[in-house]
Amino acid sequence: MSNWTSGYVADIGYTFGYYPELSPLRAKLAFLDAGLVFPDVINACELGFGQGVSVNIHAAASGTQWFGTDFNPSQASFANELSAASGAPCRLSDQGFAEFCLRDDLPEFDFVGLHGIWSWISDENRSIIVDFIRKKLKVGGVLYVSYNTLPGWAQMVPLRHLLTEHAEVMAAPGRGIVSRIDAAIEFAEKLFELNSGFARANPPVVDRLKQIHRQNRHYLAHEYFNRDWHPMHFSDMASWLEPARVSYACSANFFDHVRAFNLTPEQWSFIQDIPDQDFRETVKDFMVNQQFRRDYWVKGPRRLSPVRQLEELSRLQFVLLTPPEEVSLKAQGPLGDVNLNEEIYLPIIKDLADHSPVSLGELFERGRQRGVSTGIVLQGILIMMGRGDLSLAQASEEITVAKQFTEPLNKDLVERARCGGDLNYLASPVTGGGIPTSRAEQLFLGAISRGRTNPDEWAEDAWASIAALGQRLVKDGKRIETTEENLSELKAQAKSFSIKKFDLFRNLHIC
Ligand SMILES: C[S@@+](CC[C@H](N)C(=O)[O-])C[C@H]1O[C@@H](n2cnc3c(N)ncnc32)[C@H](O)[C@@H]1O
Repeated sequence: MSNWTSGYVADIGYTFGYYPELSPLRAKLAFLDAGLVFPDVINACELGFGQGVSVNIHAAASGTQWFGTDFNPSQASFANELSAASGAPCRLSDQGFAEFCLRDDLPEFDFVGLHGIWSWISDENRSIIVDFIRKKLKVGGVLYVSYNTLPGWAQMVPLRHLLTEHAEVMAAPGRGIVSRIDAAIEFAEKLFELNSGFARANPPVVDRLKQIHRQNRHYLAHEYFNRDWHPMHFSDMASWLEPARVSYACSANFFDHVRAFNLTPEQWSFIQDIPDQDFRETVKDFMVNQQFRRDYWVKGPRRLSPVRQLEELSRLQFVLLTPPEEVSLKAQGPLGDVNLNEEIYLPIIKDLADHSPVSLGELFERGRQRGVSTGIVLQGILIMMGRGDLSLAQASEEITVAKQFTEPLNKDLVERARCGGDLNYLASPVTGGGIPTSRAEQLFLGAISRGRTNPDEWAEDAWASIAALGQRLVKDGKRIETTEENLSELKAQAKSFSIKKFDLFRNLHIC
């Protein structure tokens, strides 16, 4: 491990994820639902942007000026390549937090976000970040932080110790990180097979090891194999952030906003009796055995009056991202499966069915005509947002500005899909964020841009790129071998794309 990393894994790149919680527009809904004032976000900053997918998509698709850093030079270089492709005003550096946070040429930020950073860095780096938030987050500004949480991770602490110790002590010198990870997993599996007392006392950990066995090694390297790995309780997190003068605002996970989803009435009344907000959150984590928190904090929370809250909520616009017939009426929360009421949800889905933005005020009004309260309509919106069926939409002037950056960015991403399939998102100027798009879909869009007119032609064009790399499709976990079978699978996917997604992508200004 190189010594500039403060013990952070740097000899393997991170995955190409997109995290909607980092979108200020999406954060606004969480704040308004919590009854809190949300600032205008002009300048935003992402600390530890990884491959830079989120920061680049947000910089291209919204009018916000984004800044950010990640000290892995390969990742920073990739992120800058995306930034050059979009042309969006986005300033990304490869500095470590210590250096970046001391810069005197940065503006004050309305939004600072860190996803997948806090639990995996040293106390020293955490202090640097807290100091940065203290100095650089504007009054009224919003902080997004996600982190591994106790008590949900408690049983995993010893297994993680075993895996990293094995990688440290038993691996032959010079072995790469992936083979050290594989060897550590194999070792732990053998240990568990010998009926170890730890495995008997902690059966969920055995399942967790099976899950780890199947996971992407790039993800595992960054999740478990750093020198630092510190899941923490909410109250400890609140103590850490106290010097930055930020207070807990609300969860970035919309399912957490729907109480009935998470807590029984008895559990809720037990928690509600606790006067201290921070302890209340900690106790809630014990109720649901929380493993991972995604939270918004604010420097100087201010409550909205109920009238202003309703006015601001009513102005938000939403767009449906899932084909209407595929929106599920089931949802899963800590209390188990929940069946959503057809009479309430089907009309809301119908109101949004043509994938055009509709204001929440309009949805409230239509709900009122059906005898459904604003609270119930809002709850439906939060659940659909939590499941990713729905997104917020920007105003039409913002869409026009963003298009000049999302078009070249998407062109670049579609072109990259010809050489590999790691980055499965495109940017929408309508939502101001990323839209999951498989490699095959990206290849179909590339074919369309080259004038191929029907799904069979899109499939043939896509197959030419895949076959040129000697690659094959994988279906139900099995590699498809023959050209005929690969083509037939691609033709089926292209047809489904043309029927279910093409109009949506058009409305999202992705094609
Ligand atoms: C688990 S990854 C998360 C990346 C990204 N936020 C995401 O979720 O896709 C953590 C990232 O933090 C970066 N990082 C860790 N310590 C850092 C430091 N001291 N300064 C700057 N970046 C750091 C790593 O290079 C890595 O890309």
